[in-house]
Amino acid sequence: MRDQYQRKIDYVRISITDRCNLRCTYCMPGEEVDFIHHEKLLSTEEILKIVKAFEELGVTKVKITGGEPLVRKDIIELIASIKKMAGIQEVSITTNGVLLEKMIDDLEQAGLDSINISLDTLKPAQYALMTRRNQFDIVMRGIQCAIKSSIPKVKLNCVLIKEINGDEILDLVELAHQTRVHVRFIELMPIGYAKNLTPISEDEVLDLLSKHYEGVKPFEGKLGNGPAHYYEIEGFLGKVGFISAMSHRFCSTCNRVRVTSEGYLKTCLHFKKGIDLKAHIATGNLKEAILESLQKKPKQHQFNEVLNEEEVDQRMMVQIGG
Ligand code: GTP
Ligand code: 5AD
Ligand code: SF4
Repeated sequence: MRDQYQRKIDYVRISITDRCNLRCTYCMPGEEVDFIHHEKLLSTEEILKIVKAFEELGVTKVKITGGEPLVRKDIIELIASIKKMAGIQEVSITTNGVLLEKMIDDLEQAGLDSINISLDTLKPAQYALMTRRNQFDIVMRGIQCAIKSSIPKVKLNCVLIKEINGDEILDLVELAHQTRVHVRFIELMPIGYAKNLTPISEDEVLDLLSKHYEGVKPFEGKLGNGPAHYYEIEGFLGKVGFISAMSHRFCSTCNRVRVTSEGYLKTCLHFKKGIDLKAHIATGNLKEAILESLQKKPKQHQFNEVLNEEEVDQRMMVQIGG
């Protein structure tokens, strides 16, 4: 399946809920969250029908996101069922890690291939401030469980914000020194609550790493399906990755589309949701509708430009799913 710019689309990110058991300040409001009504969310069957249509169109990789995907009761069933689809090579999730300790055995048994865990700070008090919840210890235990599990890839997502965790880069990198975990630094994108915070660029982090460690060099291998690229450091078990949407726009190699928790197709993270896939399940022309939409997939995000508010997705990151 290709879009109008001949980009091969073989990766779908599906958000299964907009609910979350944390309240990260750069992602969502503290209280009085306006969650989508349960009845509007895709059902288990609808999710599987949509993923099946994508599989028949040539998608081989599926990422399950949220909100927090592990709060949805059918998550294990979803992973196991998607894994059984013949054309699917990899199923992964992106989680905040709060429920990992409890669920790691089931995730492993369901056949999960890869897990990304969000961890922006190693200071318990800072974690509580950033997430508005006291869950640091349980998340750290969850990360240890993931590392010990047989799940092939375990990565950490660290969003760097100058005024909040800018002093923790080297401490976070150290997690990849002694364990198999890959640590990825994400440049903050100006979405919702993140608009007034200060990002830290890949070049700033690389500069610090090169001053501090010997033998920092680009890693040529592949560790996932998204836009990250990686560096290896002498003596490190894990790699250090970067997702640099702001300083190194990666849209020319974009291989993905998104499905929202209500079943809308989003062909770019930055722009408004597209067609209602739920409606197309009913009419039986899901695949044709997806292919048609792909021809309108935007060429690139335009976070660095002033755009008409009508075009841009105005929702919070917790609703978009990353
Ligand atoms: P893997 O590479 O397979 O581990 O997945 P991933 O990095 O795509 O997944 P993850 O959900 O962990 O996302 C990490 C960060 O990348 C999040 O901040 C996402 O918002 C960001 N990201 C993923 N895809 C895109 C994209 O298409 N555009 C932009 N701008 N950011 C993206
Ligand atoms: N910019 C970049 N990444 C973000 N995330 C949440 N909000 C933003 C933002 N504004 C990250 C989360 C999670 C992943 C799905 O997206 O920290 O790791
Ligand atoms: Fe929840 Fe993730 Fe948003 Fe934090 S960044 S509030 S963990 S969805």
